[in-house]
Amino acid sequence: MLQSRVPIAEESLSKDRLLETAIAASRAAGALLLKYTADGFHVEYKNPINLVTDADRAAEQCVIDHIRSRFPSHRLLAEERGSVAQAPSPYLWIIDPLDGTTNFAHGYPAYCVSIGLEYNGRCILGVIYDPSRDELFTAIEQGGAQLNGRPIHVSETTTLDSSLLVTGFAYDIRETPRNNLDHFCKFALKAQGLRRTGSAALDLCYVAAGRFDGFWEVRLNPWDMAAGSVIVREAAGRLTDFSGKDLSIYGQELVASNGHIHEAMLTVLSQESRHS
Ligand code: IPD
Ligand code: CA
Ligand code: CA
Repeated sequence: MLQSRVPIAEESLSKDRLLETAIAASRAAGALLLKYTADGFHVEYKNPINLVTDADRAAEQCVIDHIRSRFPSHRLLAEERGSVAQAPSPYLWIIDPLDGTTNFAHGYPAYCVSIGLEYNGRCILGVIYDPSRDELFTAIEQGGAQLNGRPIHVSETTTLDSSLLVTGFAYDIRETPRNNLDHFCKFALKAQGLRRTGSAALDLCYVAAGRFDGFWEVRLNPWDMAAGSVIVREAAGRLTDFSGKDLSIYGQELVASNGHIHEAMLTVLSQESRHS
């Protein structure tokens, strides 16, 4: 059983209680997403290719209600509402209620609920739930990473030549020169296979589970990375920015891998011209 290593605050926190809360919240929100899939949903456009649906908002409210009912003093950063003024707390829940909205809107079943938790600025917990496959990825600091309760581990692949890689593209792909297409072309010629799934949180889970050997993306948001970064770390993966520095979920750039192919990925990424 997991022992508490998180300092006890006013709610007598234990890691188990934090994890149980995130699991309950992600399962409830995932069930809600499936219900919207069956019943129908309304789409709005943040820009021509960046969608948001009423399912995103309902799932977000569901997660927030779960967390607030148990930990009313904790801070929240959630994609659709951002960070609202909150009393100071060392705990910050970072929520993407629906990662893979474009997939969801098209009926392509690759999306998830992602819930991460920072304690004093360090990501200590990650829970990601894929309701279409009923796959629950969990990790808490020093507790390993699990898929539906079973331990997972990154792959053993040692070369790009035999790696299955994944990436993604940000919603400003039409406006910015930093659109990742240069890296995409390079890796397409070096990897055994290259995918774009449309859910960064699931991409991280799949690196953790050894289904992908490496993942990179530019211009990600903290809610895309918070939970998944803990899951990769606890599955013995490596996480950095493009220059090899330790990952910051506020830094936009992410390289996640099984460790063995990390330097080779960084070399490819450094060969490309950098735009700001
Ligand atoms: C997006 C997905 C996608 C990634 C984008 C993200 P959303 O999140 O994770 O895979 O390429 O950068 O913004 O909008 O579906 O929550
Ligand atoms: Ca997202
Ligand atoms: Ca989202």
